Amino acid sequence: MGGLEPKNPGCDYFFSIDSDVALTNPDTLRILMEENKSVIAPMLSKHGKLWSNFWGALSPDGFYSRSEDYIEIVQGKRVGLWNVPYITQVYLVKGSVLRSKLSQVSLFVDEGMDPDMVFCRTIRDQGIFMFVSNRDEFGRLVASATFNTSRLHPDMWQIFDNPLDWREKYVHENYSKIFEEASGMVEQPCPDVYWFPAFSEKMCDHLVETMEDNGQWSGGSHKDERLAGGYENVPTVDIHMNQIGFEKEWLKFLKDYIAPVTEKLYPGYYPKAHSIMNFVVRYRPNEQPSLRPHHDSSTFTINIALNRKGVDYQGGGCRFLRYDCKVESPRKGWSFMHPGRLTHYHEGLPTTQGTRYIMVAFVDP
Ligand SMILES: [Fe+2]
Repeated sequence: MGGLEPKNPGCDYFFSIDSDVALTNPDTLRILMEENKSVIAPMLSKHGKLWSNFWGALSPDGFYSRSEDYIEIVQGKRVGLWNVPYITQVYLVKGSVLRSKLSQVSLFVDEGMDPDMVFCRTIRDQGIFMFVSNRDEFGRLVASATFNTSRLHPDMWQIFDNPLDWREKYVHENYSKIFEEASGMVEQPCPDVYWFPAFSEKMCDHLVETMEDNGQWSGGSHKDERLAGGYENVPTVDIHMNQIGFEKEWLKFLKDYIAPVTEKLYPGYYPKAHSIMNFVVRYRPNEQPSLRPHHDSSTFTINIALNRKGVDYQGGGCRFLRYDCKVESPRKGWSFMHPGRLTHYHEGLPTTQGTRYIMVAFVDP
């Protein structure tokens, strides 16, 4: 960071951006350049929080102090271009300023001081004004402290810390249409069996890849030490969410995304979104191709198709015996929701080629 020397006169601007910045506005650079300031930052904050990339004021000793208008600026209740004493994480500096007023000073380095603090102090000391703009929506700051890079797909675990980014990446693009009347986004292929978009393609792929990477598939036998009773009446070849450390995150998904759909489709029932059986099932012709008729130990069951019939596998699907009704062409990322017991006795139809994956949860057992 110390060696910032754009001596090349052809360098018009220096743009600095940290890894915890998510710029979602593709016009950010153009907008900032049009403001024609020596130093300018797009205003960003953490989703739903007051944490941002600027300070509204300085304390007498040069540290953070909240200005009277700070909250209104972060929340977008006051909009404009603001002259501030401190910016960080993402900013644009004019090359001409770097070659003139800032050419003879150490921009980032001072013993024991944070580089951003040194940078802003130097700019202030040189009599240069720095600005932050909230005239446009530019993006947001992401939380990176809990990011665990030892996981195959660390983003999957970000549903708590970066819920907006998680939703954009992992929730089906048509999910919100479920709640629009006449969108046709909820189907009822069999009586009281509802079918709606839940996961994005990416979520399906990341979940399957994480399970295959884990590889601790159960043998599909009745004896199952992962269960409290040690016995599974209708065993499948599966991996439970707690085996990949994803149970908390999955339950959050159930609460935030599945419970509202349940409330819409089964009026008057308010799901607790409790679930102790959450697992990915693998069906293969030479492993476990199908599942005999059974009831689920749930009030209602969620069953999400994780790959594509006709491409990744042949056969598969689910039959509800009481109605002699089959769902034979599951759609990747779409979820079934059906009552677990009594009326919805069901079986898994044989997978005849390839491998079929589904995500299952027994909700409100
Ligand atoms: Fe079942």
